[in-house]
Amino acid sequence: MIPSLALAPDYRISRLIKGGWHLAGGHGDIDPAAACHDMASFVDAGITAFDCADIYTGVEELIGRFRRDYPEHARRIRVHTKFVPDLDRLDTLRPEDVESIIDRSLQRLGLERLDLVQFHWWDYATPRYVEAALQLERLRRAGKIDRIGVTNFGTPQLREILDAGVPVFAHQLQYSLLDDRPAHSMAELCRNQGIALLCYGTVAGGFLSDRWLGRPAPAEPLANRSLVKYRLIIDEFGGWPLFQELLVVLRGIADRQHCDIATVATRAVLDCPTVAAAIVGATSAAHLEAHGRIGEVALGEQDRAAIAAVTSRRQGPPGDVYALERDREGPHGRIMKYTLNR
Ligand SMILES: NC(=O)c1ccc[n+]([C@@H]2O[C@H](COP(=O)([O-])OP(=O)(O)OC[C@H]3O[C@@H](n4cnc5c(N)ncnc54)[C@H](OP(=O)(O)O)[C@@H]3O)[C@@H](O)[C@H]2O)c1
Repeated sequence: MIPSLALAPDYRISRLIKGGWHLAGGHGDIDPAAACHDMASFVDAGITAFDCADIYTGVEELIGRFRRDYPEHARRIRVHTKFVPDLDRLDTLRPEDVESIIDRSLQRLGLERLDLVQFHWWDYATPRYVEAALQLERLRRAGKIDRIGVTNFGTPQLREILDAGVPVFAHQLQYSLLDDRPAHSMAELCRNQGIALLCYGTVAGGFLSDRWLGRPAPAEPLANRSLVKYRLIIDEFGGWPLFQELLVVLRGIADRQHCDIATVATRAVLDCPTVAAAIVGATSAAHLEAHGRIGEVALGEQDRAAIAAVTSRRQGPPGDVYALERDREGPHGRIMKYTLNR
């Protein structure tokens, strides 16, 4: 049973959201018909919100195809997309460019109004994000967008957008037992402003799962882009030995709860204040049965204390949400792709 939550009286989502990045390449070949069949299985299991992005190659189109092929299922879902203007266009972005990207998402998804558009801005040195967010607000008022969200924003920059009068509904960010940066200042701002946190990385690309318990650190090259990204987060957290200590503790809890490590790791994030949902990456429906246990798993005081006994020894990651990733010369920023919105 997948729990759901009303983010507003007319906006209810499942507390697990199906991620779309893993269908965009870099995680193996995708068979479109099988991917759409999987989407229907997720809806049948109660996962009725889908995450995608203008820059996830082919994924908005894939969800558009799913909406055509499975109209009964499609009526039950919320689709959360993103607006991610390319890095090299930030200083020349015009209101009509914003509108044409939104129109393209509408057309690809086969929708008349986008449920949620999560806005990302690569570089604060080009400080036009408030202007772009205000254009999204104009499009919302024009009926093309139901709700405006942000993704990977820093606390001061989100405050600026809010001060300009943009009604931000949700913030998509990385939050996990390995990465507690949202708890530094962002969660409090969002709680005070009634902004829901939608969290990715709760299982760190699969590292926070039974698959890696008792295993040595993986050799390079890693199997997919997620693993490359989250391997760096494990290093920031305190390295492979501390990560293994965490897996051992999670396995103990999972034994008592009759579930897998990934479900405990996701439950721990869902229990954090202001967290509305976890976005689970999926290349297939392989983990759907495990996801289905999320509503039955309940962490007690003792479980939380056992987890904290390990996570309190973390070294990082330091700073505000996405601060490390914004450094394009650093290890986290160097692996990003900045120009996918063509
Ligand atoms: N806004 C952003 O910048 C941003 C960034 C990253 C992601 N996202 C969104 O968040 C979604 C999730 O991405 P993520 O990076 O956070 O991935 P994730 O959910 O941390 O990891 C997904 C992978 O973990 C493995 N996994 C999941 N459940 C498991 C289980 N019960 N047992 C064992 N392994 C399990 C699967 O690997 P296998 O398929 O190999 O089994 C799956 O592909 C993306 O699809 C995207 O929609 C957004």
